[in-house]
This record gives sequence, structure tokens and C-alpha cells, in this order.
Amino acid sequence: MLRMLLSVTTLSFVLASHALAAGTAPTEAQLKRGKLLFTQCQACHQLKPGAPSVLGPNLAGLMGRKAATVSGFRYSPALSKANLTWDATTLDKWLQRPSALVPGNTMAFAGLPKADDRASLIAWLAAETAAPKK
Ligand code: HEC
Repeated sequence: MLRMLLSVTTLSFVLASHALAAGTAPTEAQLKRGKLLFTQCQACHQLKPGAPSVLGPNLAGLMGRKAATVSGFRYSPALSKANLTWDATTLDKWLQRPSALVPGNTMAFAGLPKADDRASLIAWLAAETAAPKK
């Protein structure tokens, strides 16, 4: 049973990351779910270009951006030295458990345990942070 659960989890993870990596359009359901999940992040993060960083850095233009490069935001030394570039793979690890990917970082967020939740949130974030919104 546990084995089955594990393989189902792995499978949905593989499918989700594959969809992102291949640039396949996310489903409506994924985007809806991602938007809902972002309510856990919005107290600390803005998405619109030029919006001030609040408790956390502005996430506009996130995909393909080097970590810890929003000017004016005081990042932890840990994240500044992490030498990461944000993409579907690094974000998946970060959102699963920030403290595991970058020990000593200052983002007070435990993590999203479900792979498909992370995939939905990343798909939604990629869409929302890609282009300036009207
Ligand atoms: C309690 C406030 C808080 C919450 C909630 C939070 N974050 Fe953060 N986030 C931060 C802080 C602070 C940093 C900078 C961490 C550091 O410098 O170590 C950060 C950094 C990040 C970064 C790296 C940005 C960069 O410029 O390199 C990403 C991506 C991110 N958060 C995404 C999210 C997402 C997605 C969620 C919701 C699942 C979330 N955060 C929830 C405070 C928060």
C-alpha cells in the first residue's frame, strides 16, 4: 500500500514537472488550485513589477531569475550565497521545504508537502509573474 502510494506520488510529480519542463500549458484546474495556494504566500510576497517588497521579496519575473537579486530587499546571507536560479525544479524543492534547500534562509514557511500542489502553484506563479499585468 505504502509502495503504491509512493509510486503514485512519484508519478504525479514526474508528470507535473514534465508538463512544466516541456512548457505544456497548465490546466484550468491547476491554475485555480495554484491561485488558491498562493493565499499562503501573499501576506509576504507581491507579484506585480515595481510593487514594493514587503516581508518577502517581490516575485515579478521570477522564472529564470537568479535567487536573491531583487534590489533593495535584505536577503539572508544563506539565500544570497545559495547560487540558485529559479525554475520549475528549484522552485519545487524550495516550496517543498525551504529550510532543506537553503538551510538558514529567513522565509518563515514550512513547505507544501504535496507534489501536485507545488506543481499547480508553480504553474500559476509562472503565468502570473511572466508579463506585466494590466
Ligand atoms: C512569512 C513570510 C513569507 C511567506 C508566508 C512566504 N515567503 Fe517566500 N520569502 C520570504 C522571505 C523573507 C524570503 C527571503 C528569504 C531569505 O532571504 O532567506 C522569501 C523568498 C522567497 C523566494 C525567493 C525569491 C528571490 O528573490 O530569490 C521565493 C521564490 C518565494 N519566497 C516564494 C514563496 C511562495 C511561493 C510562498 C507561498 C507558498 C512563500 N514564498 C511564502 C517570506 C515569506
